[in-house]
Amino acid sequence: MYRLLYISTARQIITTTQLGAILSVSRRNNAAVGVTGLLVAGGKRFLQALEGEEEAVRTVVERIRLDPRHIGIATLASGPITERAFPNWSMGHQAGGDVLPGTSIANVLAALIAPIEDPSLRAYFTGFAELHAAA
Ligand SMILES: Cc1cc2nc3c(=O)[nH]c(=O)nc-3n(C[C@H](O)[C@H](O)[C@H](O)COP(=O)(O)O)c2cc1C
Repeated sequence: MYRLLYISTARQIITTTQLGAILSVSRRNNAAVGVTGLLVAGGKRFLQALEGEEEAVRTVVERIRLDPRHIGIATLASGPITERAFPNWSMGHQAGGDVLPGTSIANVLAALIAPIEDPSLRAYFTGFAELHAAA
């Protein structure tokens, strides 16, 4: 089992309708290949976790990379995992906080995860934010 976490920037502010379209296609495609994950969308930023068999995750990520709706896709973490963090979500969604342009990755991460209320979800992402604050 493998997980990849990346951050990216939307070319334009994503509307609710556009986000809904991304999520429904994602859920259909991911369910078909056993990929699960979470998409945090805030302002023009996306933070997405994808997990599943390595080959399946890589294939999905390669497709996402080519999507013209976002740019600057930067991998924050990738590697083997022993269990899924989002076993029940073919693609879950969390509203992220608004991110001011031009701040560091650590600040972007902190702002994005600020509205996440679920404690275990928060803890999952806070770990990455701290990692990048230290880097
Ligand atoms: C931020 C973002 C996240 C996305 N996440 C996924 C995803 O998890 N799974 C997926 O299949 N497509 C995802 N997409 C959409 C893909 O880039 C692509 O449009 C889609 O997979 C094409 O599917 P189709 O060939 O079935 O239309 C995402 C797009 C964006 C902009």
